[in-house]
Amino acid sequence: MEKTFLMVKPDGVQRNLIGEIVSRFEKKGFQLVGGKLMSIPTELAQEHYGEHKERPFFGELVDFITSGPVFAMVWEGENVISTARQMMGATNPKDAAPGTIRGDFGITVGKNVIHGSDSPQSAEREIGLFFKEEEVVAYSKLINEWIN
Ligand code: PPS
Repeated sequence: MEKTFLMVKPDGVQRNLIGEIVSRFEKKGFQLVGGKLMSIPTELAQEHYGEHKERPFFGELVDFITSGPVFAMVWEGENVISTARQMMGATNPKDAAPGTIRGDFGITVGKNVIHGSDSPQSAEREIGLFFKEEEVVAYSKLINEWIN
């Protein structure tokens, strides 16, 4: 089953949006298989955003993502990588459609509430950067057995 890395950024944590964001992905039908509140060390932030290191906003990006705790997550489900990106909305909240996370909660391009992997390769890389193997927990829902 496909997995993706999603992260509530420091602005989302400060604005008490963790529950709202987790709830959206749960209600969609995806399964949370890893999650932790953490402060990102500078070296990890630089590695995570390494592909942007030549861009003019790189320093700002690293400063922001290390400025306070983030909520890092691994989610599992069919087409979860691209569907989660759709649910997040455009990178710049001014272009993000209402109903998407950034469209509903974001204002500026830097502080855009959530990060999500953009491809299977980046999902694998980012999950590996943030989670140890034993922190990702594959499990089946027992609810049907409990009800029946
Ligand atoms: S994307 O989604 O990768 O195509 O977006 P991109 O425009 O390449 O931006 C990559 C990440 O950099 C953040 N960003 C910025 N941060 C601070 N200042 C400025 N001006 C800025 N422009 C882009 C953007 O939010 C992306 O972060 P992530 O965490 O990957 O969404």
